[in-house]
Amino acid sequence: MNAPIVVVGAGVAGLATALAAAPARVLLLSRGEAGAGSASLLAQGGLAAALATGDSAAAHAHDTMVAGAHHNDVACVQWLCAQAPGVVEWLLAQGVAFDRAGDGQLLLGREGGHGVARIVHAGGDATGAVITRALAARVGAAHHIHWHSGVEVDALCLRDNRVCGLRLRRADGSLEELAASAVVLATGGSGALFARTSNPPGADGAGLALALAAGARVRDLEFVQFHPTALDVPGQQSLPLVTEALRGAGARLVDAQGRRLLDGVHPLRDLAPRDVVARQVWLERQAGARVLLDATAVDVDWPHAFPNVLAACLAHGIDPRTTPIPVTPAAHYQMGGIAVDADGRSSLPGLYAVGEVAGTGVHGANRLASNSLLEGIAFGRRLGGWLAAAAAPPATGAPEWRGLGAGLPPPRLAQLRELLWQVAGPLRSRSGLRRGLDGCIDWSGEGWQARLALAMLAAALRRPDSLGAHGCVPDTVLATSPAPLAVAC
Ligand code: SIN
Repeated sequence: MNAPIVVVGAGVAGLATALAAAPARVLLLSRGEAGAGSASLLAQGGLAAALATGDSAAAHAHDTMVAGAHHNDVACVQWLCAQAPGVVEWLLAQGVAFDRAGDGQLLLGREGGHGVARIVHAGGDATGAVITRALAARVGAAHHIHWHSGVEVDALCLRDNRVCGLRLRRADGSLEELAASAVVLATGGSGALFARTSNPPGADGAGLALALAAGARVRDLEFVQFHPTALDVPGQQSLPLVTEALRGAGARLVDAQGRRLLDGVHPLRDLAPRDVVARQVWLERQAGARVLLDATAVDVDWPHAFPNVLAACLAHGIDPRTTPIPVTPAAHYQMGGIAVDADGRSSLPGLYAVGEVAGTGVHGANRLASNSLLEGIAFGRRLGGWLAAAAAPPATGAPEWRGLGAGLPPPRLAQLRELLWQVAGPLRSRSGLRRGLDGCIDWSGEGWQARLALAMLAAALRRPDSLGAHGCVPDTVLATSPAPLAVAC
């Protein structure tokens, strides 16, 4: 019997890939059960698709390119936006109940960067959870997929420079070697390498680091998107997101005196592009000031429209219906990743990547809101279909293991996260990036996270000018008070 296709990661990208690979045999590996621990499960934004009368895939593609500062792979963007209405249809067929208006039509919301309302949601701000659970249920019922949770991948096996297996580590520390006809990394992003993130703790970049260790090409690692509004919980690293859709519904960012933060910064004010808003909030917070999202005038049925935001705020003693929400920026999304073509093929034969860990170039230098669930599902289905039809050549040659190696000890990891937050956050300076690089060089023998951070900082230093989410400013700007900021260096 042929070795199975091994898919690593059970967010929407991994689940969609596994489903689409039928009838080929798939082994799905994940750390948590039923998608638990994946960033998909936390996604509050919806899924963008040109469904409205007068909207078009071309208009969606235009907005995606503008958000991405035209650094995008144009063919990938056009393909993705053309697929989006079909993805919504497919999700409906998988049992995803998108939110509808009284007349039964799909409700279409608007978020920053979109020229029209084109975002479908499910369960209000619980779209990621609703989709992930629906796909996980389909995977659970699929005969071609065996799902093994509670494991991590520790190393890849190459023969004649082709990936043909992996080694996994169980929760009890025991190791197991497996043959694979293909290995698909769907391991998500690396937000948890920063001191403040909207990602779950498991979004630590391990898949990206593994691909780097194996010698796969990576791209665009300097582009990290920071979300402007995570709930500011002191001392906590993984922070609840306060969705941008709240600002779409009328919430306003204000300072401690109630002054609007985005006045004079951008004509779209609170709905300015995410990087613009994140930098302004970051400057205020770095200067020690509080930033609040005032949603007290948002007139919606909160438990239905924003159940996650409401629950997270209430859990921290804040009722967002009556009290402005303290917010901070947080590392949110990695635009770059393992360099792959549109079929998910990396530079190493036998190794594929999909979803946030993959660098197709579709998001350019900054991802448009609500394009991430779409990307994971559309490219996952494409990759799964491709793998179902592909025949893996027989594995020959001596096995060569390339692994992550040890992780940083917890105190050093905490130091690394703080360092990245300070030098590679929403605003960067060349001297700060160099300082970060020196720190990571010193720590690179201690753990794989430092080597991954080193690659990210080196990429940021190779790009001297601001582009998209990479906001590079002179040192003097970071030392001054938070005047309205124009990033142009
Ligand atoms: C949000 O809901 O604000 C985030 C959506 C996204 O990242 O696309």
